[in-house]
Amino acid sequence: MYIVQIASECAPVIKAGGLGDVVYGLSRELENRGNTVELILPMYDCMRFDHIWGLHDAYRDLSVPWDGGAILCDVYCGWVHGRLCFFIKPKSEEGFFDRGVYYGCADDNMRFAFFSKAALEFLLRSNKRPNVIHCHDWQTGLIPVMLFEIYKYHGMADQRVCYTIHNFKHQGITGSEILKLTGLNQESYYFQYDRLRDNFNPFALNMMKGGIVYSNFVNTVSPHHAWEAHYTEVGCGLSHTIHLNEERFSGILNGIDDEFWNPQSDRYIPSHYSKDDLAAKEKNKKALRDRLLLQDSDQPLICYIGRLDEQKGVHLVHHAIYYALEKGAQFVLLGSATEPGINAKFQHEKAFLNENPDCHLELGFNEELSHLIYAGADMIVVPSNYEPCGLTQMIGLQYGTVPIVRGVGGLLDTVFDRDYDSSKPPEKRNGYVFYQTDEKAIESAMDRAIGLYQHAPEEYEKLVIQGMEYDYSWHNPAEEYLKVYEFIRHK
Ligand code: ADP
Ligand code: GLC
Repeated sequence: MYIVQIASECAPVIKAGGLGDVVYGLSRELENRGNTVELILPMYDCMRFDHIWGLHDAYRDLSVPWDGGAILCDVYCGWVHGRLCFFIKPKSEEGFFDRGVYYGCADDNMRFAFFSKAALEFLLRSNKRPNVIHCHDWQTGLIPVMLFEIYKYHGMADQRVCYTIHNFKHQGITGSEILKLTGLNQESYYFQYDRLRDNFNPFALNMMKGGIVYSNFVNTVSPHHAWEAHYTEVGCGLSHTIHLNEERFSGILNGIDDEFWNPQSDRYIPSHYSKDDLAAKEKNKKALRDRLLLQDSDQPLICYIGRLDEQKGVHLVHHAIYYALEKGAQFVLLGSATEPGINAKFQHEKAFLNENPDCHLELGFNEELSHLIYAGADMIVVPSNYEPCGLTQMIGLQYGTVPIVRGVGGLLDTVFDRDYDSSKPPEKRNGYVFYQTDEKAIESAMDRAIGLYQHAPEEYEKLVIQGMEYDYSWHNPAEEYLKVYEFIRHK
């Protein structure tokens, strides 16, 4: 099958979070199974060019219809660790992707609406006719709308769209004038409640809603989150739209790339290890302590890796640091905050806490350090308010780092409480789960994990190994996506 993935991220060249990992990992697995996969991405000035091989121009002067006129783009092509990627770069002074950041600009809605238009125009003009176009998140929500309302009449009638929602919180809610910019000219037709009008704000257009209404298949990134989005406030206003389209909506659990995230071959860690040789994990812990100037200790090292955002339960992340230290454990945090208030708070904590030889806070994005932390830590906390899937708990499991998670979304589909999970026999349990958002809840889960580490090391090691035995690679999820692709292709 010929599949084109269109997204705003692809790890490691463009990665702000899990979306990048998913787009890369799924593409690799689909190719391993004999499919042809190509990716279309924006060409950001700040992306990691050192991860692209053989970058060259693939299409010069692509004229992208926009606002009644056209914007010229060049499309570049190169390999990102074996994946064939096309990067769209507007030539004019518009500079949509020359902002030094991936997201967070006042005109983000327009930037990605333009990217969506340019991606379709590139497919059309370069005569690419994939069987399936797989679009990701709000940034590409207008693609199925334009495909089925415009491009279908220009020789693209056979293409089918799978639309994956990674985060309902960001929906691309914007003014309806975006329609005219993209050539969807009949505003009164598109700007209806059964199409793109936002369910809450009658004056706003919702790009993600367009993706749901127009795609041949829609999914989010775990079964439990699919249920939450359908039936609870986690759907952020789109529950009703999901309900109306429920026969083509599901949850498919993400995987993690077992080449990139593999303690037996990870290029960023000093000592490789497996579940049969955990002694080498200790060497990574020593390397991590040395690197972050932490003192040696026989107490557990607990970590947090992720965005510092309301979604991630920052108040509990903050509390976990102090509680770990109070219990005599060590804590390492690697986090990036885009919200100024949260950033200021953690900057303040960092100045103070990094004086403590049992604690280190590293603020910013650092891929290489993240690998060493996954390998060196004993436990990872993921106290999210909501979590469509979550990759850090799965990576933690792969690296023998026991997850302590809040029981929401994909965390609930992947972590099974050692003491209480009745759905799994004791030998299949792999971590700790708590449910409430108060401090006592995470404290009691941390107590259980730290207690086992301190008082029953053999039992603790068993738990580590049970976690490492889980296969959260892309093998099963890719199989599920292929079934979806086959289904929509022949509909
Ligand atoms: P989300 O996509 O909501 O941010 P996920 O758990 O799905 O959360 O994925 C996060 C991905 O980003 C993981 O690969 C994680 O290791 C990585 N990551 C998050 N924050 C950082 C950071 N500050 N430095 C390096 N990697 C990070
Ligand atoms: C989103 C979600 C996260 C998920 C990731 C990849 O950013 O917040 O839970 O794992 O996308 O699908």
